Parts: sequence; structure tokens; C-alpha cells
Amino acid sequence: MPATSRRPADLQITPRQPSFDLAALMKKHRYWHNDDPVMTHFFNAMQATFPQGERFFIDSARDACTAIGEQNLDPQLRKDVKDFIRQEAIHGKAHDDWNEVLIAMGYPYMKEFDADIEKDRTWARKKIGAKWRISMTAAAEHMTASFARMILHKRPDLIDNAASPVRELLLWHALEEVEHKAVCFDLFQQLDGSYRLRATGMVFAFVDFLRHIYERQVYLLKQDGLWTVRNRIKLLTQVWGPGGIVASLAPYLLEYFKPGFHPWDTDERPVFEQRYGMEVKSVSAVAA
Ligand SMILES: [Fe+2]
Ligand SMILES: [Fe+2]
Repeated sequence: MPATSRRPADLQITPRQPSFDLAALMKKHRYWHNDDPVMTHFFNAMQATFPQGERFFIDSARDACTAIGEQNLDPQLRKDVKDFIRQEAIHGKAHDDWNEVLIAMGYPYMKEFDADIEKDRTWARKKIGAKWRISMTAAAEHMTASFARMILHKRPDLIDNAASPVRELLLWHALEEVEHKAVCFDLFQQLDGSYRLRATGMVFAFVDFLRHIYERQVYLLKQDGLWTVRNRIKLLTQVWGPGGIVASLAPYLLEYFKPGFHPWDTDERPVFEQRYGMEVKSVSAVAA
């Protein structure tokens, strides 16, 4: 069975080039997520992992293609890899800009955090084989797509409470994560495909992601003098409590451990179109 056989026939992975004036918003509305510093800094912390994270994903996809052999790749998957790389490169740039705004706002250590992941990324490319890195990348892509699914189906408040243009940036990124959610999974399946490595990749990627978010969120709150007992409890509740982010994400993340799982078992694209009025291109629309 070809690796792309479960891909929706009308799927078009579309790299878009929106621009967002985050500096203007954040200057006048520092706690842009419903005036809540804890949730605002959760998003500031999460997004700060993206620029280097997404470059890691791009490296992994390129190295997986080389290991598989370009000539052995299904032409559709080869095209999807190119579109995936273009999307992630644009995401990385948008999140670099977000980080720059944070640095200018008085969070200078965000630069060091970024440099640390960059060092790890360079090390990993030299020392860790393509199979392992694509397994972690496929898992990380499942996490970002699951985050998108979670905000659509369980926690639309996470979007609705974000002020513009962060709201639009989050929706744009979420839609593109959905569009390319299976690319690295299909590469992993073709390169290795073992259940053991797939599951191990998820455990590593999940723990690493949470650790990075936590250390950045704590720094941002400390820098504002808001690392108080009340906010520590709030952070634990919002992230780990009942109905919190991890609990809401967990059922989607756990689907990854089903032996026959594929990212296109579900399709979230219509919700972006119907609820948020976003343009989702499909192959027939592109051909028309
Ligand atoms: Fe991305
Ligand atoms: Fe992605």
C-alpha cells in the first residue's frame, strides 16, 4: 500500500504568507489572552519553541527523504514534502518575529533559549540517525495537529480569548499544521514504520516539548514578578488540571498509539472553513 494512500484526494498543502503586527498589539496589551498573564505566557512559551523546532522538522524530513532515496518516494509525497518545508519555513520566520517582540519587551533570555535549542538541533542532526529524528518529528507533528483539533473541538476559548492578530496567527498556523499533518508520518512509515519506534518517538517528543514550554513559561512569569503561589497553582490547573490543556489533548495524543493509526483518520479542514471563514484550497479548486 503506498504511503500516501490515506491522504484525502482533494488535499492541497498551501504555503500562505500572512503578516501580523504583533509588536503593536503586545505593546498596548501585554496580557493579550483575556488579560491573563499565565495563559498569555503559556502561548508565548509554546510558540518560542517553534522556530528551532520547525527547523528540526525540516532537517528531519529532508534527511528521511535522502535515506529513503528520492527515486523511491511516491511523487505525491515528494510534492507534499516540498510544500511542508515551505509551510514550516514560513512558520519559523513568523515565530522568530514573535520572539523578537518578546526580547524587545524585556525578556532577553528568550534569545538564549532559542540558541540552546539551535545547539541541540545541530548536535542531533550529526549524532542521531534519520529514523529516530523522523519518528520524533512525526510525533511532534501529531502533537501540533492534535493541538489544532483540541482548540477546534474542545477549547475554542483558547482561540476566542486571544486578541487579534495573535488569534489569526494561531488559526493560520493550526490550519497549516492540519494540512501537512501526515507528511512526516508517511515518511516515517516508509523509512522504518515500526510500532516500537513510533511510540518511543512520541514519548520523547512529548516530554521534551512540555519541558521546554514549562521552563520558558516560568521565566516569563518570573521576569514580570508574577511567579506567585496563586499563579503557580493557576499554571498547574490550566495545563495539568481536569479540563486543562494536557487532559484535553490526551485522547487525541493517545490515538497515536493505536496500531493502525493514520493522521488522516480525521479531517479538521472543514471546521476552519465553516467556523472561521478561512480559505482552504482543495485540488479541484486549484485545478479550476
Ligand atoms: Fe508549523
Ligand atoms: Fe508542522
